[in-house]
Amino acid sequence: MKATPGSEPERVEVLLSKLRECQRTPWPVYDEIRALGDVIPSRWGPVITGYETCRRLLRSRDWRTPDYQWRRTRGSRWTRPASREIGRSLIVANAPEHTHLRRGLGQMFDDTTLQRLRQVTEETTERQLDLAQRQLAAGTADWTRTVAEIVPVTTLTRWLGIPDRDGAALREWTHAQAAAQELLPSGHDLDVADAATAHLELFFTHLIADRRAVRQTDVLSQWLAVWDSIEGDQEQADVIVRRLAATTTAAGIETTVTVLNNAMWTLARHPEQAKWLAGHPEAIPAAVEEILRWDPPVHLVSRVASTDTDLNGHPVKAGDMAYILVGAACRDPRWLTDAAKFDIARQPGRGGHLAFGLGPHYCAGAALARLESQVVLERLLARGPLPHVVSAEWEPRVAFRQLSELLIAHE
Ligand code: HEM
Repeated sequence: MKATPGSEPERVEVLLSKLRECQRTPWPVYDEIRALGDVIPSRWGPVITGYETCRRLLRSRDWRTPDYQWRRTRGSRWTRPASREIGRSLIVANAPEHTHLRRGLGQMFDDTTLQRLRQVTEETTERQLDLAQRQLAAGTADWTRTVAEIVPVTTLTRWLGIPDRDGAALREWTHAQAAAQELLPSGHDLDVADAATAHLELFFTHLIADRRAVRQTDVLSQWLAVWDSIEGDQEQADVIVRRLAATTTAAGIETTVTVLNNAMWTLARHPEQAKWLAGHPEAIPAAVEEILRWDPPVHLVSRVASTDTDLNGHPVKAGDMAYILVGAACRDPRWLTDAAKFDIARQPGRGGHLAFGLGPHYCAGAALARLESQVVLERLLARGPLPHVVSAEWEPRVAFRQLSELLIAHE
């Protein structure tokens, strides 16, 4: 059904379409959407900007993730290979399957694992900051490719026991696959996402076969042992572990690259706060939370109504998708005073930011993401004043907003 010209549904559709092209500053568009209401109906489903409503939906079991079954009934983009594969992943599974998968996963990042990964992160960060420093001495450093991409990829591949040489390909494929989860992906985006999904599937199939042949002490070998005993069927266990490995790789790389890019972009443009933070390293964890709130790596998550319902006075049909604009919600002025202002000394808003989601699908890698962000900031700020930004470019993406280039230089 087409929206009436000039109506709220039509205006929100125009604004959402505009978002892809204005990633440098999506904030005025969020303000315009927010001005239309907390929940705005659209042809695609309700669009939500209000912190409280976003929070409510993320925690609710009545609002389900768009899983395999849902995708099958929708057709078009949702039944493409990348989307079908994502539909089978932990991130969009619903109870009871989701509960089953999450239990088998256990606590991925316990203290011992985090301690080991801290060492990997610290060594990688020091090595890459040395490289960035040499680039700065010669003129301009490429923060994205030298630091922001390398630290999460190396930490993740070491955790999964994947050789370092495969990191670059994994980065490329997971980035391409993320397009399948975008708000309005182009046909080309979907083709690239499908091809990347095929590469990821093959890569992890081989990796798991290798682990079956030679068991090690890494997390993949542990998962195989756990799922063999739960399923009692090796073939089934292989499929589950392949999907868990591919999901954590995709979920962990794309987002952590963004928070490391955002940390440099944001602090370089707030030099007074960066200077204060360098003298107060104990405030780095709080600064990371503010960076995550102010510009979360994931700006949009979706949920599907499980029954006909009413959302803040708007009727919603079972199966309709709700667009939860996390990026807008984290700057909702009704939730947080001066929400548009970046302030590392602020008191966190009641209930906390939504950058890691909330409820049953709360990010399973939040502890690792926090550790990596804190280590990079500690080591970066210990090296003296921050460089300034020479140029910054964003991908034309809304859900997984991402800096594609961030060049920095000293005065
Ligand atoms: C700053 C970095 C990160 C951000 C901002 C982030 C954000 C998120 C968000 C918003 C969700 C919930 C999605 C939803 O509700 O639909 C999520 C789920 C998830 N994340 Fe992260 N993530 C980050 C890093 C990581 C890392 C490092 C890993 C693992 C290595 C990871 C693994 C996962 C997994 C497995 C889920 C699915 C949990 C479930 O559905 O039960 N994430 N993440």
